[in-house]
Amino acid sequence: MNSVDQLLGIKGRLAMIVGAAGGYGRQCALTLAQYGANVALIDRNQDELEKTQAMVLAGNPEVITAIFNTDISTVDNCDQLIKDVFQKFNRIDILVHTAAVLQNILPDDVDEDHWNTTLNVNLRSQFFISRGAAKVMREGKWGRITNFISTAGLSGGLPGSIVYGISKSGAIAMTKNLARANGRDGVLVNALSPATLDTPLFRRGMKDDVLADLMKEHLRINAYGRWTRPEEVAAAVLFLSSEMSSTVTGHVLRADSGAELAGF
Ligand SMILES: NC(=O)c1ccc[n+]([C@@H]2O[C@H](COP(=O)([O-])OP(=O)(O)OC[C@H]3O[C@@H](n4cnc5c(N)ncnc54)[C@H](O)[C@@H]3O)[C@@H](O)[C@H]2O)c1
Repeated sequence: MNSVDQLLGIKGRLAMIVGAAGGYGRQCALTLAQYGANVALIDRNQDELEKTQAMVLAGNPEVITAIFNTDISTVDNCDQLIKDVFQKFNRIDILVHTAAVLQNILPDDVDEDHWNTTLNVNLRSQFFISRGAAKVMREGKWGRITNFISTAGLSGGLPGSIVYGISKSGAIAMTKNLARANGRDGVLVNALSPATLDTPLFRRGMKDDVLADLMKEHLRINAYGRWTRPEEVAAAVLFLSSEMSSTVTGHVLRADSGAELAGF
């Protein structure tokens, strides 16, 4: 084992990546596989999942991969997912949950359907999948769970992202609670607030001119004056998923290139 493998301690471990069909999830799968983790690729978008799988194998043919095409908006599907991943790999060591939905709906227009969809996909699935994964990880006395949140969960978010912000705030409480509950079994639970990235979630169906203005504004006010590369955020996920983060649990890591400072 070389010194990098020793430092990270993830070679041969099984990483579940929820939201692996695109954006940050895809990049997390690529980065964790690059350092030797086997990857369970989870999403509801089969075509894009297959693309992620092909990308992982192109760079790391020795890594074991499997696709789990599921809609995580129900508790049954979340519970079943844990069973299916365990049945296939006989272990779960790392969980990275990036899947989320974001619709631009002002507080006065929020209805029950929007509330339920957002909370169920973003927050409820993070709880049930984290809880299920933690149960398995406890058996092996080692685990790393990273739930993606957002600056909206810290600041409350823009007016149209109120429910999204609520879902991400809830994830912070959940992360801290599960961190306490699982620490004695070596299972560490953290949240990560990533930088702005141009993905379908970021675009949230915005009209072209509104989107162009928002992108310009992003570059104008952000601390770095540039877009963050997904690999940069995935490097922070690699840290949280590795042996290196052994003292870090219940933490919200802002891997946001200063986005929160700019009020994004
Ligand atoms: N992109 C940004 O600017 C940004 C900023 C802050 C936080 N985040 C957070 O980062 C994470 C990843 O965001 P992204 O930009 O990569 O998003 P994305 O839209 O590129 O990817 C989200 C993935 O979630 C999947 N998904 C959605 N609903 C699902 C369901 N019911 N069942 C299964 N899969 C489902 C989608 O198919 C998609 O592949 C999210 O948690 C998001 O809140 C993103």
